[in-house]
Amino acid sequence: MIIEPKVRGFICTTAHPEGCAENVKRQISYTKSQPRISGPKKVLVIGASTGYGLASRIGAAFGANAQTIGVFFERPSQGKRTASAGWYNSAAFEAEANKANLYAKSINGDAFSNEIKQQTIDLIKQDWEGGVDLVIYSLASPLRTDPTTGTTYRSCLKPMGETYTNKTVNVMDGTVSEISIEPANDEDVANTIKVMGGEDWQLWMNALLENSLLAKGAKTLAYSYIGPDITYPVYRKGTIGAAKDHLEATAVELNKLLQHKINGQAYVSVNKALVTQASSAIPVVPLYISLLFKIMKEKNNHEGCIEQIVRLFTDRLYNSNNDTIPPVDQLNRIRLDDWELKDNIQTHIKTLWPQITTENIQSLTDIAGYKTEFYQLFGFEFDSIDYS
Ligand code: NAI
Repeated sequence: MIIEPKVRGFICTTAHPEGCAENVKRQISYTKSQPRISGPKKVLVIGASTGYGLASRIGAAFGANAQTIGVFFERPSQGKRTASAGWYNSAAFEAEANKANLYAKSINGDAFSNEIKQQTIDLIKQDWEGGVDLVIYSLASPLRTDPTTGTTYRSCLKPMGETYTNKTVNVMDGTVSEISIEPANDEDVANTIKVMGGEDWQLWMNALLENSLLAKGAKTLAYSYIGPDITYPVYRKGTIGAAKDHLEATAVELNKLLQHKINGQAYVSVNKALVTQASSAIPVVPLYISLLFKIMKEKNNHEGCIEQIVRLFTDRLYNSNNDTIPPVDQLNRIRLDDWELKDNIQTHIKTLWPQITTENIQSLTDIAGYKTEFYQLFGFEFDSIDYS
């Protein structure tokens, strides 16, 4: 069967199993090329099949020899329909982990539900004596059903207060246009917090604590984003930013709770903007990322998901100074966006941003690189694969 990409809006509805496996193998090989991480041994990753969560699972397994349980929500193949990329990624990850004699089990289902939390708890009880020592929470979802009330909430990506107008790009054909997004109402904000805020992370941690499944000194981490002034109205000062504020406030509360109960730690790590299925859906952000990548590649400090995560483990969470507390900012956040937000990068972006047009986008930005990475998320455009 020949599989081709079918792109609709900001998602690709097909995925290539061999290409997804290649994506996983490249991340494993990068991890193995880096110094060993003296880190966690039993790691639960919630949202483990794509993007930052997949990189976290790979970094822990192949960088620190950790056993991993991955939770995700992915679609298996059906008839002529391919599985989703995260399904193939996870199959490939498990195959590579098995080859390396690393324990790896996965649970596919709705992480927001009580049933999937219970299944995960049962699996940990059965397989992991001593409990989990790192929990990564890396979900990105457009909706969440509250397990107590059964109500489904939908998140949205809107500014707050006033209409936001800026440039955006159609990644597929490189057309630059202006987009205006109407401000959110109170319900939009509350719903987005419900989906992407910290409530579900808290529920996971409470469930693990109540079942005594967190090892002494265990850590938990969720991922956040801040970004530049250009995307502030639609990101950090928008509905998703309100959810991230809630997530970050949850980290502070969880940190106190875990310290008290198990001498543990909870942090949010503020990561770099990268091409993932989640970030492709945010207006304006793909154009910003295209420009960011061009400049960071020129300055030789560009990173993808796996480079960010390996740096997170080696320089922050399990750094060689054996710091018991990782370096954090005033709001207790780990900052991996330090290179993205460097003055020399952001000043460059501010100068070039007003100049970008459909005519010069190919030379001013790395839109070509963005497009390739987007296809690669779904297993396409790897030179090493014979797609014919
Ligand atoms: P992604 O779309 O690549 O991955 C999302 C993961 O969540 C997948 O494993 C998916 O299966 C899982 N998932 C979604 N709904 C689920 C459900 N109901 N039950 C179980 N699993 C479910 O997203 P990405 O970009 O890696 O985002 C992860 C986190 O990192 C998010 O909190 C995001 O805001 C944050 N982040 C992302 C940045 C970016 O530029 N991509 C930058 C900084 C932070």
